[in-house]
Amino acid sequence: MCGIIGILGSHQVAPQLVEALKRLEYRGYDSAGVATIDGEGRLDRRRAVGKLVHLSDRLVTEPLSGRSGIGHTRWATHGAATEINAHPHRRGRVAVVHNGIIENFRELREELVAAGYAPESDTDTETVAMLTAKHMDEGKSPVEAARATLSRLQGAFALAFLFDGEGDLMVAARKGSPLVVGHGEGEMFVGSDAIALAPFTDRITYLEDGDHVVVTREGSDIFDADANPVSRDIAQIDVGATAIDKGGYRHFMAKEIAEQPAVLGDVLNHYVKDDRIVLPDGMDFSTVDRLTMVACGTAYLAGHVAKYWFEQLAGLPCDLDVASEFRYREPPLSEKSWGLFISQSGETADTLAALHYARGKVARTIGVVNVGTSAIARDTDTALPTLAGVEVCVASSKAFTCQLAVLAVLALKAAHDRGCIDDAGLAAHLADLRAIPALVNQALNSAEACAELAEWLSEADDVLFLGRGPLYPVALEGALKLKELSYIHAEGYASGELKHGPIALIDQNMPVVVVAPRDALFEKTVSNMQEVMARHGQVLLISDNDGLSEAGDGIRAGLAMPEGGGVFRPIVYAVPMQYLAYYTAVAKGTDVDQPRNLAKSVTVE
Ligand code: F6R
Repeated sequence: MCGIIGILGSHQVAPQLVEALKRLEYRGYDSAGVATIDGEGRLDRRRAVGKLVHLSDRLVTEPLSGRSGIGHTRWATHGAATEINAHPHRRGRVAVVHNGIIENFRELREELVAAGYAPESDTDTETVAMLTAKHMDEGKSPVEAARATLSRLQGAFALAFLFDGEGDLMVAARKGSPLVVGHGEGEMFVGSDAIALAPFTDRITYLEDGDHVVVTREGSDIFDADANPVSRDIAQIDVGATAIDKGGYRHFMAKEIAEQPAVLGDVLNHYVKDDRIVLPDGMDFSTVDRLTMVACGTAYLAGHVAKYWFEQLAGLPCDLDVASEFRYREPPLSEKSWGLFISQSGETADTLAALHYARGKVARTIGVVNVGTSAIARDTDTALPTLAGVEVCVASSKAFTCQLAVLAVLALKAAHDRGCIDDAGLAAHLADLRAIPALVNQALNSAEACAELAEWLSEADDVLFLGRGPLYPVALEGALKLKELSYIHAEGYASGELKHGPIALIDQNMPVVVVAPRDALFEKTVSNMQEVMARHGQVLLISDNDGLSEAGDGIRAGLAMPEGGGVFRPIVYAVPMQYLAYYTAVAKGTDVDQPRNLAKSVTVE
């Protein structure tokens, strides 16, 4: 979380820094700041609490000049979102922006306090500035001072340093957090991702973990974790693919929900040709004895749906864990097993650490990743892109359904490789899967009904989502989306678990959303729904027309989803989960695309 940018440019840099920060705002939006070096070599900074617009307003009344600068958009870890805690942090001649957590900052701060350097903020980052300033006070050059500081830091970081009096120098480093270098003509850039640099350059170097870089306008010198000079490739990125605009929609989320039929079509066309599944070499599941899936949040829920598919279609034993638990549990892994890591950003710190734990212990690591240049994409044996395109809204929608599409393809491949389905069976399932984009398109017609239902949900303090089988994780996703967007407390439950506790919560004020297509488990879920209604619970039943006509008596509202899609229908049922949360947030007036306290890319654990 937090986005950083650094520019040694040929124009006034403050507007460019703000433009780049706009593109990084998905990483954090508690506060923002920039520092520049003016024509006389003077370092100065401006910081503001809240959204980036407050910083740009500040820069209108208190402009900063200069062609060199660094900038930051913050997601608070240490210290509240105040101006004092906002980056850049400046001590002496050095200013620093940071993404990550310096784990040994308390120990460093004690040492600095003892040496007469008093902290001004509550942040871990300030320690980096203080330590570097101390090294410079002791006579080290800016580069030596930054290097000496880096050698003392523990934790995860991407850092950019700027020095008073040094208008043609920037030092940057990464360990655990992403950082790229951008190459221009007589201009150089560093940033948390290539999207931030897209307005300035399409020539990008992805730094490796432990690298630091000394940047001037003429170019960059990169050094590895052992301080040896190294050369890293320059990649040409597709700037068009980083275009970010709302395309006429009120929010990115509305646009991203509506894009799902198209991107699902793209992803299925990528992996399915005629009746053949096309995957990279070596993706043969016949000797795999177990699949271990690891992810966080919505990506975890995609894995949760896929667990049903892998087990039921392919008879493949499947473990699923949230990355933050997996990484410290030290689970034994079979060397004949595969590890599957699901992530939109490909940078989630816990998922990345889980991948690093599994590497060497399992036969193959697979990434199901939306950002193709991300750390998880680079560090897995096989990276499978989800091809959802740039997802800007912090809450995931199209990335989730595209993850499901890739996982569905993998489950079918596993089922076929393991002899659980023959060619005809595969063709039949693929026909169901190929129908999904059109069914999702029909499900988009539920927008208006969801907007009306949202008026009711927005009055509630708590909402319960129930589902069974692979619709249980869809219910969990409905609850997750609703809480993160509307701040209403919501819980998802396996409907069979209702009687084991949550039924105590049911009263006439509690909306209960039941996700139940007319499938083999329908009757069971409907029985649970009857138990809710017998206790005056207010039910919204989301089913197909058959389901609604069979079980619709006594419900408060029904929402019809299209029929079809076979076992892959959870992808279709994700749409009303998204729309209910979206419209409830709109009804409550919360910030849909940037909900409070959240960040799109969770690069700290
Ligand atoms: C919820 C949401 C998050 C992410 C989670 C993992 O709408 O978007 O729960 O799914 O933070 O992020 P990635 O997929 O980038 O690893």
